[in-house]
This record gives sequence, C-alpha cells and structure tokens, in this order.
Amino acid sequence: MTGSKTKIFGVLGHPIGHSLSPVMHKAFFKEKKINADYFAFDVDEKNLGDAIHGADALKFCGLNVTIPHKISVIKYMDEISEEARLINAVNTIKFDYVKDLIIGYNTDGIGAINAIEKNLNDGLKGKKIFILGAGGAARAIIFSALSNNAEISIYNRTVEKAILIGNDVKEKLNKYLKVVHLKNLKDELKDNDIIINATSVGMFPNADECPINEYCIPKGKVVMDIVYNPIETKFLESAKKRNCMTINGVDMLVEQGAEALKIWLNMEPEEYLINIMKKSIIKKLKNKPKN
Ligand code: ATR
Repeated sequence: MTGSKTKIFGVLGHPIGHSLSPVMHKAFFKEKKINADYFAFDVDEKNLGDAIHGADALKFCGLNVTIPHKISVIKYMDEISEEARLINAVNTIKFDYVKDLIIGYNTDGIGAINAIEKNLNDGLKGKKIFILGAGGAARAIIFSALSNNAEISIYNRTVEKAILIGNDVKEKLNKYLKVVHLKNLKDELKDNDIIINATSVGMFPNADECPINEYCIPKGKVVMDIVYNPIETKFLESAKKRNCMTINGVDMLVEQGAEALKIWLNMEPEEYLINIMKKSIIKKLKNKPKN
C-alpha cells in the first residue's frame, strides 16, 4: 500500500498513456519488497520546469523523462552526467537531497549496449556496428557504442541529420562516423557485425514496415531493433530468415530501466530481477491493445 513512507518515482512525457515504464518498475519494487511506487505523468512543455521542481519539493526519489522532453529538460538540471552531455539528452533524473542537487543522466545508450553485450556474451571493442536512423535513440546508441570502442557506420533517410551527428562525434570524442548513402547501403551493411534499427519504422500500428529490404540484410549477423511494439518486428522477422541472431527492443527498454534503478537506488539489479521486469513488459504487450 502506498503511504507516507512510500518512495515515489515516475516518468514525465507527452503523451504518456502507453508508457511501459510503470509496469516494469512496479514489478521490480514488488519482487524486491521495496516500499515504492511509480507513476506516469502527462506534462506539457510549458509546465516541465514546474513539474520537476514540484517533484523535488515533494521529495520524489527519481524520474524518467521521455518523448518529447529529453532535450528541453536539461535546462532544469543542476548537473548532468558525462553520457547525458555527450548525447545531449536526459532520460533519468536523480534528486540528491543531501547535496540539494537535481542531476540528469542518460541510460538509453548504456541500455542498448548492455542488451547487446548480454546477448553476445562479449564486449563491443572493435565491433563494427551499423545504425539505421539519426534521431535521439540513434544518438544515444552511437555515443555509448563509441565510448565502448566500437566502430560505427550510419544511414538515415535524411542524410543531413547523420552528417550532423558525425560532426558532433568528431567534435566531442574526436572519433569518426562513416555516413553511408542509400546507393551504397547493401554493400556497406555486409561489412558490419551488428546492425541496429534506431528508427521508428515498424512500430505499431505500422508493423508491416521494415527500415530496409530483406535482401539487404547480410546473412549471419547480429540484428537489433529498438522498436518493442511489436516485440518481433518485421525487421527482426526478416533478419531471422537471413540466419541472423536477433535482439528485440524489450531488452533495451528493460536495460535502460535497470540502469535508472541503479542510479536511484545505488544498487545493481540482479539478472533475475531484470528478467522479471522483462516478463512484465512482455505480458503487458501481449495482453493489451498495442497502440
Ligand atoms: P527518437 O528520438 O525516438 O529516435 P526521432 O528523433 O524522431 O525519434 O527520430 C526518428 C528516426 O526515425 C529518424 O532517424 C527518422 O528519419 P528522418 O531523420 O529522415 O526523419 C527515422 N524515421 C522515421 N520514420 C521513417 C520512415 N518512414 N522511413 C525512414 N526513416 C524514418
């Protein structure tokens, strides 16, 4: 039962109705027998600062931030982590009541890296990764993967956005991003170990869409999708037909959530708890309307 001693967590976004964060965090608190609760808050851009300072005043323990506030929330932070600075987005807020600080973090990139490393049982050092997309999710994965010494190529429908990330990577990390054009896509894909769809293509209700043609997916690679609804996207279905090992978007979603818990609670969620979080999401996705 939620009471005066209950630790309060939540996610801010707009719209927020379909967020799966409450499901997985509640599952974690229940299993760990932590007196905590997690709510989804629909917050307009104009109220974002008030919402954060209100949560601080109400002694919330932590917040997640989702679309469309991940960038605009930065101005309300007292400090941001190195990852958040590189990615230029915050998805996790910690209220430090001892130092009286509101601190912003980004766990999206590390969430993707953990999902890959756990599935591969191997580190990313020297691995060649091909990213489809140049939005916020792509940026997070790119900066985290480069920090883990992977090599990155990128293709995006709007090439200018890929070039902008490339320029930022050069400036902030002094590293190189290979920007690929559509005419070279099929050949360039072959030269990679891991291919990641970081676009929204294939997300419900457009589940029959695929970011690239099936025949462009090279055989025997590792293929990951950040889209988690549906759990098995058309892209992953096609990749399986090409004998690729696949990693679905639920893994990244849960891993970024587990990283947020680590920041808030100063503890490492054990693997069995991460599995419980994952199961709670899969159950919700399978049982509820998927829009
Ligand atoms: P997020 O923060 O979730 O990454 P975003 O910043 O809006 O969301 O980025 C969405 C990504 O999906 C972009 O790379 C976008 O390509 P453009 O930069 O060309 O817009 C990509 N995307 C969305 N719909 C697409 C489509 N139908 N075909 C190809 N790429 C698409």
